Amino acid sequence: MPAPTRLVVLVSGSGTNLQALLDACADEAYGAQVVAVGADREGIEGLTRADTAGVPTFTAKVKDYSSREHWDRALADKVAAFEPDVVVLAGFMKLVGAAFLDTFGGRTVNTHPALSPSFPGMHGPREALEYGVKVTGATLFIVDAGVDTGAIVAQTAVEVRDEDTEQALHDRIKVAERSMLVDAIGRMAREGFSVEGRRVRFGG
Ligand code: GAR
Repeated sequence: MPAPTRLVVLVSGSGTNLQALLDACADEAYGAQVVAVGADREGIEGLTRADTAGVPTFTAKVKDYSSREHWDRALADKVAAFEPDVVVLAGFMKLVGAAFLDTFGGRTVNTHPALSPSFPGMHGPREALEYGVKVTGATLFIVDAGVDTGAIVAQTAVEVRDEDTEQALHDRIKVAERSMLVDAIGRMAREGFSVEGRRVRFGG
C-alpha cells in the first residue's frame, strides 16, 4: 500500500470536521493521515480532539507577531515542519496570505458552509437564510488569494426549511459538509487530483 497522504489540518473552533477526518484516517485504507493540527488560538475543542487522537498540535496567534505578514510566514513555517502533502482548513477563521500560498498554494483546501460562489465570508448560513434561497450547502475549494473564491473540489446541497434558524441550518450543513470533506479528501489522497484553471479533477 502506498504511503498515506500527509494532512495538516488548521482549525479555530469546535473541530467537528477535523474529528470526521481523524475518524476516517483511523482506517488505513482511507489513504491519509493527520500528521498535525494547528490553530490560531488556544483552548479550543479542535485542539483537544487532536490531543485525544495523539496528533501533535501547534498554535500561531496573530497577536504574537508584529504584522499579519510575519504571522503568515510563521504559520507557513510551522505547517512546513510537518511536511504535509495537503493542508486542510477546517473551520479556520483566518485568511492565509502570500507567504503561506507560496509554499502551499494548489494543495491547501478550505471548507465553506455555502454553495460557492454564493455567500462567501464568515456568515454563509445566515446570508443564505436572509437571501431566502431554498437550497444551500457546503463547498470544498482550493485556497487562493481571494475570500472563498478558489477552484471547487466538491460541493454538497442542503435544503433550507421554513422553520430554519441560522444555527439549525448550519448544523444541518455541517452534517453534509463532514461527509463531503471526508469523501473528497479521501479521493484526493487515493486518486490524486489536478487543477486546471477553475476545473479540479480527481485522478492522476
Ligand atoms: C464549518 O461549517 C466550516 O465550513 C466553517 O466553520 C465550521 C467549522 O465547524 N468555516 C467557515 O465559515 C470559514 N469561513 P467545525 O469547527 O465544527 O469543523
